[in-house]
Amino acid sequence: MEIKKKAYIETYGCQMNISDSEIVASILEAQNYESTTDIKAADLIFLNTCSIRDNAEQRVRNRLNELHALKRKHPGLVIGLLGCMAERLKDQLLEEERHIDLIVGPDGYRQLPQLLEQVESGQKAINVLLSVDETYADINPVRAGGSGVTAFISIMRGCENFCAYCVVPYTRGKERSRKSQTIVKEARKLFEKGFREITLLGQNVNSYHSEENGIPIEFPALLEEVALINPKLRVRFATSHPKDISDDLLEVIAAYPNICKSIHLPIQSGSTRMLGMMKRSYTRDWYMDRISAIRRIIPGCAVTTDIIAGFCSETEEDHQETLSAMREVGYDYAYMFKYSERPNTLAAKKYPDDVAEDVKSRRLDEIIALQQELSLKSNKLDVGKEFEVLAEGVSKRSDQQLFGRISQNKVVVFPREDYNSGDYVKVKILSCTAATLRGELIK
Ligand code: 5AD
Ligand code: SF4
Repeated sequence: MEIKKKAYIETYGCQMNISDSEIVASILEAQNYESTTDIKAADLIFLNTCSIRDNAEQRVRNRLNELHALKRKHPGLVIGLLGCMAERLKDQLLEEERHIDLIVGPDGYRQLPQLLEQVESGQKAINVLLSVDETYADINPVRAGGSGVTAFISIMRGCENFCAYCVVPYTRGKERSRKSQTIVKEARKLFEKGFREITLLGQNVNSYHSEENGIPIEFPALLEEVALINPKLRVRFATSHPKDISDDLLEVIAAYPNICKSIHLPIQSGSTRMLGMMKRSYTRDWYMDRISAIRRIIPGCAVTTDIIAGFCSETEEDHQETLSAMREVGYDYAYMFKYSERPNTLAAKKYPDDVAEDVKSRRLDEIIALQQELSLKSNKLDVGKEFEVLAEGVSKRSDQQLFGRISQNKVVVFPREDYNSGDYVKVKILSCTAATLRGELIK
């Protein structure tokens, strides 16, 4: 029997990247590689990278320095850089980071076998071509590292919104959707294997669009089809753009108990002037109208968001509007960032990055402090209530406790007794912090 080579993949950035790493692992496993979690045992190390902010790239640069030392000790070690940073910097990276053997952008993973052959023959290899139709629909991702309970399915790739600050349209190319039947089949297989929660992924899931047998299929119809697989299969999705979160979609979410009542709706800023400069294509009022629609159609739905502090020319008044928008919505959770200028984006070309670093930091701190308050307030409202929790695993603190999530995507820790991951458990919430709920079993 031929001895398998060992591949170690480290993933940076978003859920799409986690999903892409699973596709890469599957392509490698068809090529006499097996995945390892032990970097020292690896013959091949891939970093699947992110370019969204400068510090994401700096983390990868630091990691590359460490890998350089490892490669000096093991000269046969192959080092590859995948994902958005590969796409953004292309062959420039081969010049700057001389120990990298291979550079592959997000649409090039199918070429990995040929590229690895090239590396074996002593050459450097690169594929950073973007595609208009690659969706990896026929590749069965290797979901080895996860809980066996929750899984991602990538349903569309790319982004054409061109928000002024964002590098993604340049690193991930044009929008394209997978055929719905391939998605439903993958979800059904996962359910049969014991998975109980699917997250449908895309840079902009509600732009999902497919034509099958002459019939157009949009995101609400796809979501409904996946929900119909089995009432015991929970369905989530991320990320939605506020511009197309339609009442139709909200009605589908409301109609199926197994479609989770949690919507991630990035606002970015509470100031209509900033939103205009960011090219977000909605105003604050328009966004708040969508929030009212969520509250009306799906009572009890959690709403989470992304916020950028200190975008170009942001004034104190703009910043106050972000804080007031956060209070108005009462977000359950938020991802919060300082603006980081990305080369070649519209903002980098058109606007000076003119909010001082200390001002950006102070505004971000205020945003984080407010979100802490809002998360705690939202969690306190759940104390005394009963929820169905999908158990995902043993709690880090004690093996007598399990953790899982409620439909609203909040984490709950509760007594294990004879439950296992993958079970649905009825829990009454007894206490909380801003981050976690704690509950007791309801018998
Ligand atoms: N600087 C800071 N944050 C950014 N994001 C995207 N681009 C930038 C940038 N240049 C944030 C947005 C987006 C999330 C994924 O990352 O909030 O929704
Ligand atoms: Fe990072 Fe965006 Fe690329 Fe995801 S799509 S890896 S967040 S740059």
